[in-house]
Amino acid sequence: MSTFIVLLGPPGAGKGTQAEILAEKTKLAHVSSGDLFRENIKNQTELGRIAKSFMDKGELVPDDVTIKMIKDRLVRPDCETGAILDGFPRTPAQADAFEVILTELKGRVDLVPYITASEEVLVARTGGRWTCRAHGHIYNQTYNPPKQSGVCDFDGSELYQRDDDKEEMVRHRIRVYLKQTMPLVEYYRKAGRIIEIDGMQAKEKVTAIVLDALKNSGSRRDFSAEM
Ligand code: AP5
Ligand code: MG
Repeated sequence: MSTFIVLLGPPGAGKGTQAEILAEKTKLAHVSSGDLFRENIKNQTELGRIAKSFMDKGELVPDDVTIKMIKDRLVRPDCETGAILDGFPRTPAQADAFEVILTELKGRVDLVPYITASEEVLVARTGGRWTCRAHGHIYNQTYNPPKQSGVCDFDGSELYQRDDDKEEMVRHRIRVYLKQTMPLVEYYRKAGRIIEIDGMQAKEKVTAIVLDALKNSGSRRDFSAEM
């Protein structure tokens, strides 16, 4: 039975930051729907063209397009033991489709860390975010600066600011999140998988809470050796 961790939370809560760290610690693949869309936009694919028309407005990409992209990603060999999902599922329809995919993959959602933060913190964090062009490594000019300004510590690639991180756009994305994604908190609470974490703590503290919950999650996989 493969292990899936679903990170839930508003824009800027720290999903990508935590996914990066957790992937390294657990050796599970990091699957970010936002990164996959951005990669397709960069490569000028048809999927990228469709995604861009929604992302530029801070709206969600349609469910059918998103579900197909994630399904294609999860059948790749690096997801054989499971994955850390960052940004998917994001609507009840995506969560239902994900259950069908999980049955096919013989996987299950072991844990749903739900990371929260105030709107002002979300706006401040996204305003100061810098992302690496090559692999999406995440920095913040105040909380997590790179060693050399504008350059990724890991791969030396250029750092850029996302087009959808302007303040008005972030506030709109938060409204979209509240309307379309918040129902998933109840969905996974009913399934007994949610742990709610105050995302305004230091990122190391957030990671420690997730890892602790994972060890006690009843996952078929024993993580204690790897962490
Ligand atoms: P996506 O890329 O998923 O963006 P998002 O969900 O809006 O979330 P963010 O990436 O903005 O925030 P994050 O929680 O990852 O925060 P991060 O770790 O970077 O989606 C973008 C768009 O793609 C959507 O609007 C939609 O159009 C489309 N899309 C994607 N998935 C979709 C789906 N499933 N269905 C339909 N459409 C979809 O952290 C933010 C900043 O804070 C960083 O600078 C970081 O260094 C800093 N930080 C993180 N943690 C801490 C901490 N504890 N303390 C201090 N600073 C911290
Ligand atoms: Mg992210």
